[in-house]
Amino acid sequence: MLNTGHSDSFAFTLEDLRWVLEAESGTALLQTGLDMIIQTVPPIMGGALLLQTSSRQLQVQSGIPADALDIVEAWKTAWRPSQQGEEHEADFTLPPDQWVALPMQSYRHLVAGRALFYVQEPLTQEVLHFLQNLLSILAHYANIIEENRAARRYSQRLELLFDITRALTETLDLQGVLSYTMQLAATAMDAEAASLLLADPKTNELYFYAIHSTQRDRLVNVRLQNNQGIVGWVYQTGEAVICDDPANDPRFSQVVDERSGFVTRNILCVPLQVKGKRIGVLEVLNKHGDESFTEEDKHLLMTLAAEAAIAIENARLYQNLREERDRIMRIQEDVRRELARTLHDTTVQLLSSIVMSVSHAQKLYERAPELLPDELRNIEDLAQRAMLSTRQLLFELRPVVLETRGLGAALEAYIQRLDEISRQTRFILDLCEDLPDLPPHVAQTLFAIVQEAINNAIKHAQASTIRVKTVCTDEGMEVLVEDDGKGFDLKKVQQSYDVSGSLGLINMYERANLIEASLTIESEVGKGTRIQIVLPYESLDRLRAIAENR
Ligand SMILES: Nc1ncnc2c1ncn2[C@@H]1O[C@H](COP(=O)(O)OP(=O)(O)OP(=O)(O)O)[C@@H](O)[C@H]1O
Ligand SMILES: [Mg+2]
Repeated sequence: MLNTGHSDSFAFTLEDLRWVLEAESGTALLQTGLDMIIQTVPPIMGGALLLQTSSRQLQVQSGIPADALDIVEAWKTAWRPSQQGEEHEADFTLPPDQWVALPMQSYRHLVAGRALFYVQEPLTQEVLHFLQNLLSILAHYANIIEENRAARRYSQRLELLFDITRALTETLDLQGVLSYTMQLAATAMDAEAASLLLADPKTNELYFYAIHSTQRDRLVNVRLQNNQGIVGWVYQTGEAVICDDPANDPRFSQVVDERSGFVTRNILCVPLQVKGKRIGVLEVLNKHGDESFTEEDKHLLMTLAAEAAIAIENARLYQNLREERDRIMRIQEDVRRELARTLHDTTVQLLSSIVMSVSHAQKLYERAPELLPDELRNIEDLAQRAMLSTRQLLFELRPVVLETRGLGAALEAYIQRLDEISRQTRFILDLCEDLPDLPPHVAQTLFAIVQEAINNAIKHAQASTIRVKTVCTDEGMEVLVEDDGKGFDLKKVQQSYDVSGSLGLINMYERANLIEASLTIESEVGKGTRIQIVLPYESLDRLRAIAENR
């Protein structure tokens, strides 16, 4: 039995104290402690305790009569703890007699708090002294319990973060892993919902990419302007936001709540950025219970956002790589098909003509030797053409001259050969004098576009003249391929690309894009075709700088 040593009018057992000290949380400890005081110290009928621990503010009260509650509220508002635990009731005076206010400090002044008691009669000095000691013990242990809880919460969060990081780095199923991440984020932050929105730079919108919410299905297709709502504000400014009162926050937009039926009570939203570039935002909504999101939540969510942003970037790079690989494979396949077709249509045809002519010559040798010289000349002509067309093919596959002497020389060699081989079409080349030196990949790309344009003209146009021109203006250089053939309806061709399976024109546009050039195709049925590639010097300078840094 413990008592104040002065009277036995109140006392409590060690057992009572054990119940107090074994409480689950700081609040529970204060509540049990306060109830015990009220029960064992008869003049005290009610009371309120306020305590600022190292991680949060605790408050409990009990036994205060209803008509005195506003006094307690006024006392609570007047109390503003400071780091040093100083007194803070200068601007508030309690009505005398029925109230006793006491400081509530742990021994080492680590925490600050106040106690207010509602009493039937004034307390003796001994009782006051005893209460002060007891309040110190309560403050001390409440702080220890809270610190422990905070440490446990922190280590649980670290474990969660570790799980998330591992999941994010180990998988390439980005959508799946980010949905899982949203679920873990909501758990770690003790929130009702979590979602990740990505920016769509083409439309200046933010769209939901991963969602953990009961209203998920209603949010999947929702898009917001990238400056709309708190998510928009965070995306624009790059600053994290904790908002406890969205209804009165001018940045908040009702749109998403209206669409989803969700009621947002509070929000924590952080930006997603990689290498200084903002790609979206991450938000958690509605902290469970009456609490709001803390600075600690904010830091955790920011760490998580950094991990998620890297995972998104990696997945995007991987996706680009895959697309690039598919594109290269497609181009290789096209080249192979084109090669087989050209070999079949030219070299193989010519060789089989040669074989037939040789066998005819053998017969002539026996039956009409006077016709043999003509036949031999025919064979020589066929062999000559077979050689030229094979050389042309080799040149098209790898125009060495392009690498050694540049675009102008390559075009000269190419056009000259085509003109030599062709029977129906005249090939003309106009080169401007001051054609600039081009980085190798730029020259190769331009050459490949010209090749496709000429092949199309040969295959489809039945032109009498095909002209290739380079023009140098003050702003940049242009390459033109013109034919006077039958022309075509560009719109129709573009509309039927899905079914035609041809890629020539698409490849031309893609290649031009790669070197920041613009490509224009003009064609009209019966009036020939004109293809123009414009490469501004501005782009060329950039391409040169890139080539030098490679
Ligand atoms: N110079 C041209 N004159 C007339 N028609 C053309 C010309 N260039 C293209 N076309 C028309 O446009 C269509 C699409 O051209 P594209 O180069 O994309 O495909 P393709 O040449 O048919 O096949 P691929 O280039 O994939 O081997 C051609 O099929 C042809 O009808
Ligand atoms: Mg083509």
